[in-house]
Amino acid sequence: MQIVETIESVRALVRAAREDGSKIGLVPTMGALHVGHLSLIEAARQECDFVVVSIFVNPTQFGPGEDFDKYPRPLEADLEICRKAGVNVVFAPTVEQMYGGENLTWVEVEKLTEPLCGRFRPGHFRGVATVCAKLFNIVLPDAAYFGQKDAQQAVVIRRMVSDLKMPLRIVVCPTVREPDGMAVSSRNKYLTAQQRNDAACIYKSLARCRQMIEAGVRDAEQITAEMRKILEQVGSVEIEYVSLVDAETLEAAEHIGGRIMAAVAVRLDTARLIDNIVVEVGAQ
Ligand code: PAJ
Repeated sequence: MQIVETIESVRALVRAAREDGSKIGLVPTMGALHVGHLSLIEAARQECDFVVVSIFVNPTQFGPGEDFDKYPRPLEADLEICRKAGVNVVFAPTVEQMYGGENLTWVEVEKLTEPLCGRFRPGHFRGVATVCAKLFNIVLPDAAYFGQKDAQQAVVIRRMVSDLKMPLRIVVCPTVREPDGMAVSSRNKYLTAQQRNDAACIYKSLARCRQMIEAGVRDAEQITAEMRKILEQVGSVEIEYVSLVDAETLEAAEHIGGRIMAAVAVRLDTARLIDNIVVEVGAQ
């Protein structure tokens, strides 16, 4: 496995692999790798011959007062995980490599970035779209792998690739969960044992939503009220949003039908946690 910091070196390695006929897969991450990231690497390994993992804590997607400084950066452990997973190249650039000088060009995806996390993290998706556009231009992968865990991010990136005619395929992989249903996340490391217990209510609220839809409930407000009730039972949880939206357009779903995404964001002290499920509802 090669570990490179510069744009030139990753480009040279990818160029050589492509000349050998390899299909290139890219897994963009911010490091602190866990089984969720690993599932993306495995999907990339299945479909591609040459897998690049980028590890870059992207400053432009963090707002003021967010956790950029304290975001975990266990590089040695990350490299070990990548090595064991059969990654070909880890690209771990510096901020200077990615944004050196003054960055005047930004990618703004409209509309899809307004609801859900967009309302609470202004500028976040502009940072995500911009860094992903840079990574796609640097690596020129045939496919890039994202997690359903960050569903709005996946929708935004898909749209950017489609609108800007970027020549790659976006693959979205299922959310990897703990035994109690909690989505695995680098930010779970911030939680105390008590908070980790409390956080189980997030998945409980999503499971209840699925159960209600499967039982025939079609009134979105009735469902979100029930989900809020489950979350509010846990005193330490502060709700940011509980929303039912169309899984593709992210528009509010007043009446349940088609592919519906239930999405939740909460704060537990300073940790911000998000999760979602998608439920397919046949025409009735
Ligand atoms: P990061 O939070 O490190 O996540 C990297 C990728 O792993 C994302 O596509 C995310 O959705 C996926 N992922 C995280 N937890 C997962 C889980 N439990 N199951 C499945 N996939 C999971 O998302 C980012 O980094 C950044 O915004 C990035 C895209 C790298 C741009 O900076």
